[in-house]
Amino acid sequence: MKRGLFLVGALWVLLLAVSVQGSGPGPGDGAAVPTFTKDVAPNLYNNCVVCHRPGQVAPMALISYQDVRPWAKSIKSRVQNREMPPWGADPHYGKFKDDRSLTERDIETIARWVDSGAQKGEDANLPPMPEFASTWVLGQPDAVIEMPIDFEVPAEGEVDVTDFYVKAPFTEDVFIKGVEVRPGVQAAVHHAGVFVVDRMPEGTKIVNGRAIGPDGKMLSKRDISRANGRTAFEENQKLLSFVPGRGFESYQAGAGQRIKAGSYIDFYMHYQATGKPEKDRTAIALYLAKPGQEVTHQIYHSFGSAGPTSYVVQGKELTGEVANGDDSSSDRQALPPIPPYVDDWKVVSIHSIAEPITLYGLTPHLHLRGKSMKYVLTTPDGKEEVLLYVPRYDFNWQLYYELETPKKISAGSKVTVTTMFDNSLKNRYNPGPDKEVYWSEQSWDEMYAPQARITIDNRDLRKTGVLLTERPQQER
Ligand code: HEC
Repeated sequence: MKRGLFLVGALWVLLLAVSVQGSGPGPGDGAAVPTFTKDVAPNLYNNCVVCHRPGQVAPMALISYQDVRPWAKSIKSRVQNREMPPWGADPHYGKFKDDRSLTERDIETIARWVDSGAQKGEDANLPPMPEFASTWVLGQPDAVIEMPIDFEVPAEGEVDVTDFYVKAPFTEDVFIKGVEVRPGVQAAVHHAGVFVVDRMPEGTKIVNGRAIGPDGKMLSKRDISRANGRTAFEENQKLLSFVPGRGFESYQAGAGQRIKAGSYIDFYMHYQATGKPEKDRTAIALYLAKPGQEVTHQIYHSFGSAGPTSYVVQGKELTGEVANGDDSSSDRQALPPIPPYVDDWKVVSIHSIAEPITLYGLTPHLHLRGKSMKYVLTTPDGKEEVLLYVPRYDFNWQLYYELETPKKISAGSKVTVTTMFDNSLKNRYNPGPDKEVYWSEQSWDEMYAPQARITIDNRDLRKTGVLLTERPQQER
């Protein structure tokens, strides 16, 4: 029986592989000494060079042997401590598209390579160097939009969070399948949000990127959406956030984002002083839908677009509408402050899914007291499934966990997000354990944003009269 033989054969190969792996570098066991070209480079190319190459977030390239050799010891310790590559998801739950986390075996191979002298090995074994079509991670963009001015970041002190507006260069509605944010000066950009604002209130002028109202005062994006009546999603539509390790996203299946003709791109910039004066001009790259790549559904950034949310803080349910730090409008109550020195402060949000949705990915967003976040889906028949668990949230790495395959979630389901905060002395990132912590976008305050990327199945852009016909021309 061929099948039986094949199985036996496969078993043998497996056993062999296991025994070779298990044997380790015995004395005189030359073959087991790992080399850069054969054993280490493939791993770095798959899991590290996305950031560790010129022009990206990491401080050094990890491509050639010459690049990598001086960092050998540091690489060993960073991978053994699971600090590199940055990845927060508990491997027991969910399957994610860009999961770069290393297996125990990978880590052990790197450690043995370093311990045995970090040898180069034979050139012939080196896998093809990764090729990058462009310095943008997502490749050659269809359009690049820059901030309208170089912003001068002072050497020291705090800089107010500022919105810079620039008119989008499109004469027709466009649909994007991907977007990437690139800070001008990495170190000076603490974080950035990029939004689309479909119109400016009557009488607004754009001066050096600032929106100036008829009374001569600068308008924030909230002022703008309030002045426009807060009636449309497009008044303040989020394209993407930039934080270290996360500044690009592409959309699967029929998902995408519409940018209406005549819109403004809002660069919402949070700068930090670097110790010397800097000039920043952050840019975004847009990837438009290609012919045959129809965008049928708009991406939304939270479950809140699919139904109401309720909050339970330290076991007590809050009534009424709650602002969780991303919206300071006065008609919503804030979450109660976190008391000084308290660990394990628990916030639960229950997101009712009133309409069928498709889920593409999740991003926990908290500030420095954030400790862990867990998303659990409960389907209408009562079955529970953990979508994502980040047991040790790290403010420095607010990653986007994109599902390997988009997930349909039926109406009547709910997603329960359980988040722990640590305002005690145990939290080494805590800027002030003696303080009562309020909610705002400032990082010394706290924020609670269990972000998600979803589309709402019944909101088909084709049925609302908007069709992608051809790629519009870009204005010059
Ligand atoms: C998501 C982007 C990203 C990925 C993926 C990534 N790194 Fe990094 N790495 C960084 C950044 C940014 C820094 C600098 C900040 C820091 O030290 O945490 C860094 C720092 C390091 C350092 C310390 C450098 C120093 O100054 O001491 C080492 C070593 C390192 N990375 C190795 C790796 C290895 C090995 C991999 C893959 C197995 C990897 N990194 C994957 C972004 C990344």
